[in-house]
Amino acid sequence: MLSKIELLLNNYNLIVFIFYKIKFRDPHCICYYDNDYHFVLVMSSLLYRPRRLRRTESLRSMVQENHLTVNDLIYPIFVMEGENIKQEIPSMPECYRYSLDLLLKEVQEIYKLGINAIALFPLIEQEKKDNEGKQSYNPEGLVQRTVRTIKTKIPQITVITDIALDPYSVYGHDGIVKDGEILNDETIEVLVKMALSHAEAGADMVAPSDMMDGRIGAIRQALDKEGWINTGILAYSAKYASAYYGPFRDALESAPQFGDKKTYQMDPANSDEAIREVALDLQEGADMVMVKPALAYLDIIHQVRQVTNLPVAAYNVSGEYAMIKAAAKLGWIDENKVMLETLTSIKRAGADLILTYFAKQAALLMAKK
Ligand code: PBG
Repeated sequence: MLSKIELLLNNYNLIVFIFYKIKFRDPHCICYYDNDYHFVLVMSSLLYRPRRLRRTESLRSMVQENHLTVNDLIYPIFVMEGENIKQEIPSMPECYRYSLDLLLKEVQEIYKLGINAIALFPLIEQEKKDNEGKQSYNPEGLVQRTVRTIKTKIPQITVITDIALDPYSVYGHDGIVKDGEILNDETIEVLVKMALSHAEAGADMVAPSDMMDGRIGAIRQALDKEGWINTGILAYSAKYASAYYGPFRDALESAPQFGDKKTYQMDPANSDEAIREVALDLQEGADMVMVKPALAYLDIIHQVRQVTNLPVAAYNVSGEYAMIKAAAKLGWIDENKVMLETLTSIKRAGADLILTYFAKQAALLMAKK
């Protein structure tokens, strides 16, 4: 980038240097005497000017490396019992819990916008919760009925269901509790029943988000044994014990009633462990892997991308959504721009798919462009 001219101009050297500096306004130009007392003039020619490719909108589009499209988006959506209900979640502005009739309308709308998939989360009534999550595999349960109805009315949309006990647990934990501990293998037996009942209802994919060891393999085997060979598994492989899930737990009234989730969800300080978790889920038969949350874990998304050719999903979680909504409400940031920048950063990090409460808003915005 710098061109070096050795000048042997004796007395006029300094004059030449000053003339050059003034004439070409080259701030990088310097001069010195080398070991042989030669006068050396170093001029910058700025061969490379990266700004050339940023000059116009069309040039910028031509060299854009990552593209956010509506195909990348998965819309997490909350369902509850009742009719004609659309309840805004206080800590998640413009995000609602729907009764099935209104949920159908919403799903219809987002499918028209080009969104291919929803991830379904149920609000379970308090009196239906227990320690073993028995409601979770009731063939007539809320999720099962919802999946069946969606698959009858809008069969083209991909329906992904959550596999974990927390919405069904009196303790708000993702597994069965005994003496303050979260049981692993006993929980898996319930998760398997839950996954089978979702497959039977018509779910395209089940998404275990519980972080019990060995659940991907157990679910895959059970699905295959029962003939659900085409039901996919989206594994929450690297799911961290994160404070960013707060608003989601408000939405489902599923906050842990004691302790925290650190004995099963991952330590935010770890990254090698995320790779080990992904490796296990790949061996056990996951079709896609996920990193969750997304924003504080972009490095993990990037590393996971390097170790698998399977699709990688990232969950732009409730707390990340809430922060953008809150700052925008206060007038501190431009909501739409920050939203698109955030979603693009998740893609750039290496995610193929993004679960985000912004899916509809982003799809609407991209449709306008
Ligand atoms: C439950 C589950 C959680 C989320 C998705 N599935 C919460 C948790 O693990 O406590 C969080 C999603 C969000 O915050 O948006 N297994």
